[in-house]
Amino acid sequence: MCGIVGYAGQRRAQPILIDCLKRLEYRGYDSAGIAVVGKDLQLFKSEGEIAVLEGKMPEMDGGLGIAHTRWATQGKPTTENAHPFADCSNRFAIVHNGIISNFMDLKDKLLADGHVFSSETDTEVFAHLVESEFEGDLLEAVRSAVARVEGTYAFAVVAKDGDGIVATRRESPLVVGLGNGENFIASDVTALLKHTNKMLFIEDGEVVRVTKDSVTVVDAAGNEVRREPHKVAWTLEDAEKGGYPHFMLKEIYEQPSAIHDSLLGRVESLDAEPFFSSGAFSSVKIVACGTSYHAGLVGKYIIEELAKIPTTVQISSEYRYSSAPRENPLIVLVTQSGETLDTMAAAREARRRGNRTVAIANVMGSAITREVDHVIYTRAGPEIGVAATKTFVTQLVALYILAMDLGTQSRTLSALAKRAVIGQLRSLPRAVQDVLNKAPEIEALAKKYHASRDMFFIGRNINYPVALEGALKTKEISYIHGEGFPAGELKHGPLALISKDSPVVAIAVKDHTYGKMLGNISEVSARGSPVIAIGFEGDTELEKYADDVLYIREIPPLFSPVPVVVALQLFSYYLARERGCPIDKPRNIAKTVTVD
Ligand code: AGP
Repeated sequence: MCGIVGYAGQRRAQPILIDCLKRLEYRGYDSAGIAVVGKDLQLFKSEGEIAVLEGKMPEMDGGLGIAHTRWATQGKPTTENAHPFADCSNRFAIVHNGIISNFMDLKDKLLADGHVFSSETDTEVFAHLVESEFEGDLLEAVRSAVARVEGTYAFAVVAKDGDGIVATRRESPLVVGLGNGENFIASDVTALLKHTNKMLFIEDGEVVRVTKDSVTVVDAAGNEVRREPHKVAWTLEDAEKGGYPHFMLKEIYEQPSAIHDSLLGRVESLDAEPFFSSGAFSSVKIVACGTSYHAGLVGKYIIEELAKIPTTVQISSEYRYSSAPRENPLIVLVTQSGETLDTMAAAREARRRGNRTVAIANVMGSAITREVDHVIYTRAGPEIGVAATKTFVTQLVALYILAMDLGTQSRTLSALAKRAVIGQLRSLPRAVQDVLNKAPEIEALAKKYHASRDMFFIGRNINYPVALEGALKTKEISYIHGEGFPAGELKHGPLALISKDSPVVAIAVKDHTYGKMLGNISEVSARGSPVIAIGFEGDTELEKYADDVLYIREIPPLFSPVPVVVALQLFSYYLARERGCPIDKPRNIAKTVTVD
C-alpha cells in the first residue's frame, strides 16, 4: 500500500508533487521518489520519509511528473527498491500501488529478452513491460502491458518525450483531479484538495491519459468512457493539522462535529426514509478488520438490542475463507478507507454467496462502494492519522441508525423506543465534548503510567469490544504491549500475566454487569496490579476498588462505548506522546492495508 501522485500543467511539477505526496504519507513512508519530465527525464529517490527525499533531491525543471511514497511489500525499504522505476532506455518512468502477483514469470521472460533490472521489487517489471510494448502510443503500451499483469495495481507512467501521464488501476484507488490548465492524478482525493475538488474516479480496468488541458478515459477494450466528475465536499482544511501537533489529536477533537454530521438528515423525524431500506433479515453478519472490526463487535450488541436480530461478527480475512452456512444474512462490511483488501475480498465473497451487502465506508467513491448493494457513508471527513479515531465513533453512529432501521422494519422497535434512541444519539456530541474537556486529567494518568511495558484492558458486554479497541490503540501508537479481554475471561488464563508492573484499565460503567466488574477489579488489585477504572460520574464506590478513576457523564449503557472510547483514544495518545513515539505514522503499519 503506497501513495502515488501525478501532475501535468504549466507550473513547476516538482514542488506540487512533493506537497501532494506529503498528504499521502499515511499510506506508507519507508521510501519515496519523484520523476519529472523537462528537457530530460529526471528521476530521484531515497530511503526514508518524504522529508528525506525533499532534503536531498536536486531541482528539477518541467511541468509533468509523477511521485510515490512506499510501504514495502516486495523488496526491502531501500533506495534501490523505491519508486519510480525506469526502463532500460530511461525513456519511461513508472510508479505503482499494489502487488504484481505474476512478477516472477514476467521478470524471467523480460530477463531472457535482455532487460536489465536494478531492484528486488515486483513493480520494476512494469517499466520493462511498457518499454517492450511501446510502439509509439503510451496509452496503448500501458493497455497492452497491464493485460499481461496479474494482481492489484494503480500505475502511473510518464515518458521523456511525452506531454501527459498515463494511468490505470485494478483494485487500487486512482482519482483524477481536474484543474484549470492543469490536471492531477492521485491515490486519494486528500492529496489534491489544495488544488481542486473536482474529481474523476477511475474504475477498474480503465486507462486514463492526463495532459495539462485534457483528460481521456478508455475502458479495457479501448473505447472512450465519458463520466461526470464528482464535486468532493471535503476542504483542504479538513485534511490539514489546523494547529494541532498531530493529526490524531485533531481527529479526536473533531469527534463531536463528526457525530453531529453523521446524524444530520438521518434522524430528523421518526418517519424519515429508512437509512437502509432492505426488507426483513433473519440474521446479520458484520465483516471488517482492525478498529472497524471492533466497531462491528459493538454493532452486534446494538443490533441485537434494538432490532433483536441475531448478529455475528467476523474478521474479513477469516470470513473470506470460511464455508458458507445455510443462512442468508445481511452482510455489513465496515471499512474507513473502503480499500482494505481483505474486506474488499469479503464483499465479493458475500455477493458470490448471494447475500445482500451494505458497506459502512468513509471515503467517497472508494473501491468497496462499487462492490456492494448499498453504501452508508460515515461523514467523518478525511482521517490522516494511521490510528482510527473519529471514523470508529462515526461507524458506531452508522450502526445505531442501521439497527434502528432494521428494528423499525422488523417491528421490534416501538416508536417510543426509537424516539429515545434518537434523543440519545443527539446527546452524544455533548457526552464526547465532556470527555475532551477532561484531557488534562487523562494526560496526567498517561504521565503516571507511560513507562509500563504491558497494559491490560477489560470490559464486559458492549464495552468488551471497547476494551479491545483501547488495547489496539495503545499498542499501535505507544508500542506498549496492550491486550484487551472480556473481564470474565481473566481467570481463564490472562490473570497469570497480571503483576504490579502491568496496569489494568477497567471499563466499569453502571450496567447489568457492574457488580461482576467490581469483582474482576478486586481480582486484579489483589494480585498487585494498579487499576485505572472508567466509570460514571458520582460512582464513588469505584474509588474503593481502583487506584485511579476517570469519570464520564452517565448515559444509558448502550451508548457508553462512544464516550468511553474517546477517553481511551486520548489515553493512548498521551501515552505515545510521553514515550516520544511517531504518533501519526507508527512503525511497520500503514493506514490502508491493500495487501492480504
Ligand atoms: C486502526 O487504528 C488501524 N489503523 C487499523 O486497524 C484499521 O482500522 C484497519 O486496517 C481497517 O481499515 P479500514 O477501516 O480502512 O478497512
